[in-house]
Amino acid sequence: MEQQGQINATQMPRIGDQAPDFKAMTTRGMIEFSEYNKGSWVILFSHPADFTPVCTTEMSAFAKLEDEFAKWNTKLMGLSIDSIHSHIAWVHNVKKNLGITMRFPIIADIDMKVAKLYGMLQPGESETAAVRAVYFIDPLGKIRLIMYYPLNIGRSMDEIWRVTKALQASDENGVAMPLNWKPGDKVIVPPPKTVEEMEEREKSDYEMVDFYLAKKDI
Ligand code: BEZ
Repeated sequence: MEQQGQINATQMPRIGDQAPDFKAMTTRGMIEFSEYNKGSWVILFSHPADFTPVCTTEMSAFAKLEDEFAKWNTKLMGLSIDSIHSHIAWVHNVKKNLGITMRFPIIADIDMKVAKLYGMLQPGESETAAVRAVYFIDPLGKIRLIMYYPLNIGRSMDEIWRVTKALQASDENGVAMPLNWKPGDKVIVPPPKTVEEMEEREKSDYEMVDFYLAKKDI
């Protein structure tokens, strides 16, 4: 029997679902996801394969920003359908060639267990390699945003950064983020829900197009 907020292995997790828990071998040893996630945001991302060019550009970009993400209470976790030996050799190779160390754990999902659990394996794209998926999981273990990219297109680190900050600022301030929002920009105040709130809004100093589209600084 399926529990509310839980998904089975044949489903794709959706925004608002509880992140499926798992225990997996990583480049940092065995990790239970729910323990790793406790009290922190986690960005869980998959790449198609070790020792491939696009993946190397992406994973080294994550590695360079790992300390910056930590300042935003955000941990990183990678995954591919490769062995732990391949991961270790690739981490070593990237360090040797680029001087960049991937310190975050990378799951060795050789049996595809986690990839299937999260819908990272999308057979129309590849039956053996994970697509470029990114899951933003909040400190309560809820999936808040999902990105999927095909094998041949690298992700945008600027966008990954932007949504990391947008999700947190939205939670902290109870506001929504408009098109192309970035830190420092005005945010959208939720529309009024009562006549009193509507009257309050008319007296406010919000930047207002109409009552339903009002912006303020945070
Ligand atoms: C790459 O990372 O370069 C790559 C991986 C799998 C398929 C195509 C490109």
